[in-house]
Amino acid sequence: MNPVKRIGVLTAGGDAPGLNAVIYTLTRCCTRQFGYELIGFRNGYLGLYQNDFVPLTPENTTGILHKGGSILFSSNKYNLFRFPVTENGQTVYRDVSDTAIQNLKEDGVDVLVVLGGDGSMISAREFARRGVRVVGVPKTIDNDLGATDQTFGFDTAVNIVAEALGRLHTTAESHHRVIVVEVMGRGAGWIALYGGLAGSADIILIPEIPYHLDAIVQKIRERDSRGKNFSIVVVAEGAAEQGGSPSIGQIVADSADPIRLGGIAERLSRQLEQIIGDEHEIRPVVLGHTQRGGDTSPFDRILSIRYGAAAANLIHDGIFGEMVCLKDGHISHVPLEQVVDNNKPVDPASELVQVARSLGVAFGDEIQEADV
Ligand code: F6P
Repeated sequence: MNPVKRIGVLTAGGDAPGLNAVIYTLTRCCTRQFGYELIGFRNGYLGLYQNDFVPLTPENTTGILHKGGSILFSSNKYNLFRFPVTENGQTVYRDVSDTAIQNLKEDGVDVLVVLGGDGSMISAREFARRGVRVVGVPKTIDNDLGATDQTFGFDTAVNIVAEALGRLHTTAESHHRVIVVEVMGRGAGWIALYGGLAGSADIILIPEIPYHLDAIVQKIRERDSRGKNFSIVVVAEGAAEQGGSPSIGQIVADSADPIRLGGIAERLSRQLEQIIGDEHEIRPVVLGHTQRGGDTSPFDRILSIRYGAAAANLIHDGIFGEMVCLKDGHISHVPLEQVVDNNKPVDPASELVQVARSLGVAFGDEIQEADV
């Protein structure tokens, strides 16, 4: 095996607060601690294909530790194993990974570090299978990667949701309204559960617990009967009614990530209006990309710093084809082969769901009697 001299890094998929903290740490550990050179490919895997990169040094990465987003930019549009190319005026999908691997060779990149979620780790695994020395770092606000206890970006998103719920409480209360707040998370309810519980939501709807409209209405009326004539409903974008399906906002044909969830707050608000429109005004609120923006929470900064340092250490130890992870509070690593197709749903029987229920939070699947 060639000795490692030069490392490439890219940030792929939807951005998550903490990407810059990993880049910051990786840059310092790789260059100052181990004497490697580091370059960053821009715009995720697209930059690898287009050979679009910038050198990363401690000097040009100062002041980024706390910032959300990615100084390398990111994209969830491009899959180099199924990449749109125009042939004879037609868009066809081709495996262009050979070009990317050739670029890595020409650039003298000995190891590729991929900061990404499940989709990005599938590509990372494919590159590893083709002989590229790869190290993964788990990122996603959704916290749905089974191979790690926590991804960075999640804590920041939860903070933003909790803060927003605090604001929504005062306006909901003064208008006696029901506010239905849609949060991200794709097929997992982590952001809704943690953000909802921290922000004192009355009803939390997650994909893992299909809901029934009657149960929601009963909870709202039960609160009314106690003089709490406003309610906050947090609904995960991937949640669905019992026997129903999630609300799809858009299907984007030419994307590596074609299904965009969205619209459940609007749908649910209209349904509730049909039933309790005479009792309450209902307002849908979609927190959307605010959950991924702004500064990174201190917890996510620390987690990202730990992940960045762990990635540099793996490279130094000559361990490739692995993703750094958190296991029982300790930094560890796991083979990329075990990372993909291993999504982590909320367990409806988990302690946190039970605690929430005991506080009176409704999940839309049963009649509640206690107060929040
Ligand atoms: O996976 C992160 C995430 O923010 C999901 O929670 C959400 O469904 C999706 O990305 C939104 O993607 P986009 O950035 O393409 O709108």
